[in-house]
Amino acid sequence: MVQPNSERSTKNRFSQFAALGAILLCLVVLSNSAYAETGAEAWLRYSALPRQLAKRYAPFPASAVALGDSLVLKTAQRELTRGASQILGHPVSADNGPLSHPAVILGTLAQLHNLAPKLNPPQEMTNDGYWLKSAKVHGFHCLIVTGPTDRGVLYGAFALLSKLARSENIDSLDEVQLPYAPIRWVNQWDNLDGRIERGYGGPSLFFSEEKVRDDLTRAGQYARLLASVGINGCTVNNVNADPRILDDSFIAKVSRIADIFRPWGVQLSLSVDLGSPKTIGGLDTFDPLDPKVADWWRKKTDEIYRQIPDFGGFVVKADSEGRLGPSTYGRTPADAANVIARALKPHGGVVFYRAFVYNHHLDWRNLKSDRAKAAYDNFHPLDGDFDDNVIIQIKNGPIDFQVREPASPLFAGLHRTNEAIELQITQEYTGQQRQLCFLVPMWKEVLDFDMHIDDANAGHQPTPVKDLVAGRVFHRPTGGFVGVANVGMDANWLGSPLAMANLYGFGRLAWDPNLSAETIVDEWTRLTFSADPAVSHTITNLQLNSWHVYESYTGPLGAGTLTNITGNHYDPAPESSEENGWGQWHRADHNGIGMDRTIATGTGFIGQYPPAIQPLYESLANCPDNLLLFFHHVPYTYVLHSGKTVIQHIYDSHYEGADRARDFVVQWKALQGHIDDELYRDILARFEYQAGEAVVWRDAICDWIYHLSGIPDQKHRVAAGLKAYSHFFWVRSSSARFNSSTFTRASPSNPRSRSVVCFCTKSRIVDSGSPRLWATRGIWNSAAAGVISGSRPDADVVIRSTGIGAFGFSCCKLLASA
Ligand code: GCU
Repeated sequence: MVQPNSERSTKNRFSQFAALGAILLCLVVLSNSAYAETGAEAWLRYSALPRQLAKRYAPFPASAVALGDSLVLKTAQRELTRGASQILGHPVSADNGPLSHPAVILGTLAQLHNLAPKLNPPQEMTNDGYWLKSAKVHGFHCLIVTGPTDRGVLYGAFALLSKLARSENIDSLDEVQLPYAPIRWVNQWDNLDGRIERGYGGPSLFFSEEKVRDDLTRAGQYARLLASVGINGCTVNNVNADPRILDDSFIAKVSRIADIFRPWGVQLSLSVDLGSPKTIGGLDTFDPLDPKVADWWRKKTDEIYRQIPDFGGFVVKADSEGRLGPSTYGRTPADAANVIARALKPHGGVVFYRAFVYNHHLDWRNLKSDRAKAAYDNFHPLDGDFDDNVIIQIKNGPIDFQVREPASPLFAGLHRTNEAIELQITQEYTGQQRQLCFLVPMWKEVLDFDMHIDDANAGHQPTPVKDLVAGRVFHRPTGGFVGVANVGMDANWLGSPLAMANLYGFGRLAWDPNLSAETIVDEWTRLTFSADPAVSHTITNLQLNSWHVYESYTGPLGAGTLTNITGNHYDPAPESSEENGWGQWHRADHNGIGMDRTIATGTGFIGQYPPAIQPLYESLANCPDNLLLFFHHVPYTYVLHSGKTVIQHIYDSHYEGADRARDFVVQWKALQGHIDDELYRDILARFEYQAGEAVVWRDAICDWIYHLSGIPDQKHRVAAGLKAYSHFFWVRSSSARFNSSTFTRASPSNPRSRSVVCFCTKSRIVDSGSPRLWATRGIWNSAAAGVISGSRPDADVVIRSTGIGAFGFSCCKLLASA
């Protein structure tokens, strides 16, 4: 009698537990999907697989055993149990052994060896790599997640979850993955006041009002995202560093961020100002060769390690854009880098010294001046002078994150120095997250670019940029990949759901630059949205085409992004590039366009490339069309490889680009009903807005170049009459002249409100002689009361879309009726 009762009560208890478990699981899944649509979970949504697909994983173990109790291993266990439970729809629980049933086993190779001495990875494994293996352990079918380090195990856990979420086959799993390079870091350009330089996703996760935030929850979630794609370091403050970051009182606060990062294996690092020994240290100098300065850096660094034992190191921007640097004392970047490197060395830290050193007061009248030459000129002569824990951080191109640049020749110019490539995830010059521009294809072109370094000696051994930065060509101790991320407090991190493909893509490329852009975006789409083929096909296509489309209406033929370079880096303003010292010149005049960077007649920049590369760019016959204007000044009538003249290409490219941007809207509309409705509408509004912006760009650039060249568009699309261009800029720069009795400035506190578009017909603007339609971006809000000061009653504006967060909904309709 006792037996059945107790059996029954056990069964009852079990079914109560099961029911409770099921409810909890549902809640987790439900809350996850509700939360997920804000974009906060990004590619870690872990949404439940449809039942049919989940069945495939029926043998998946119901528990996960951690072989140790380190912080990172426990994180891996928690992530795996949470993720697998959600994806598979049945609980996978944490278990601390001993092994008595099938399990996922999480542990380092050393720990695995104790449990199952005969299990060895098929190849030698280094640092953060992992091995996923299905095997019998103590007679039980297990899934092993292991690696040389705890961090490798964590990466393996994320990789296993990604496979589940994308319903990959994991029967007979036996996969080793090793990272391409040890350095896989992101930089955040966060200021202590909470703003982020070139950040388009809201305020800082780390700082607010000159302090470290009390609530660092988002910082922890960010570290989780970073770890999930193998990123192992994060520099939390702006490269234009505030010296106060090194105040003793601040270090204690910053150490809280390191605590939040630590479970995810993300090392914290800081950008530092080279003037710090003087500005905050009380010394009368910051000369790197002064022993007092060396001593200051040593003591400061020791103090940091006392509070943050796993501190990663420092990032230095010096002698650049007004930053203090060693040139003040006639010292070199090597002098400056090494003094800091020596302070870090005993602790295992590194210095990233940025190669972005240039004079922004160049003489624009001198046709031999060239900002593109600066990085090589400054750093190549110092090759071999840097200590082994210094890494030269080099932007992908020689100028500054333009929509297209050639690979920086400096990658090939350092043989005895560590290097890292700096890629910009935040879309400073590529649409600022308000427009779609998936950057992985662009990054891959640079990473795969073969510098042909050894051609003269050993016959051709490929020496692509990815191998140079990973330290593989010259057998350097370290090197790798740095991405300027600038995520912020916006729920979706970067201010746009589709932009997150760039953060994901950066991480995946830093782990394995041989992955294709297609593979990366397909993974991302499936993880972020769904495996529905209609969804993945459409989003993948949109992403993969977006860079070319953006390039085609903002800066074709390698002229650089023809944007407002002294202002917002967003609007078309090609004249802002010229007649100033910033050196982002396109040299457009009445006869031609482009920078002559040849060795023969130009600035000589091409001479910085290895000899085997020079003919590719020096000769007009070889130079690829898409970089022509970066390397050559040509007449507008110059005929491209494509058979078109330069001017006709520019016209066509802008019109095609605007058409394709409008087609993005059409493609997106096909997804209605396939994805969350709110997300669908949000992204639709963005594409509609982008279509309007593409027209703004198209008309601004076409009219500008027509104005300059006097050569009409063969297809008769570009406005006749030279007035158009000046009107355009008059309208843009003097919005206050609109009759605005119903319009006031929108609240600047919402960053999205910057994107409100107001449309006006030019025919209704004072002094306008043209019937063309213009879309002018501005911060105007029809809802609020008030009048813009200085407005003129004789002008008229039609606002077609207003309000916080609203984009140019009606722009396409408006364009159609124009
Ligand atoms: C660009 C950017 C700056 C940034 C600089 C850098 O010029 O506009 O905001 O400080 O790059 O990389 O240091």
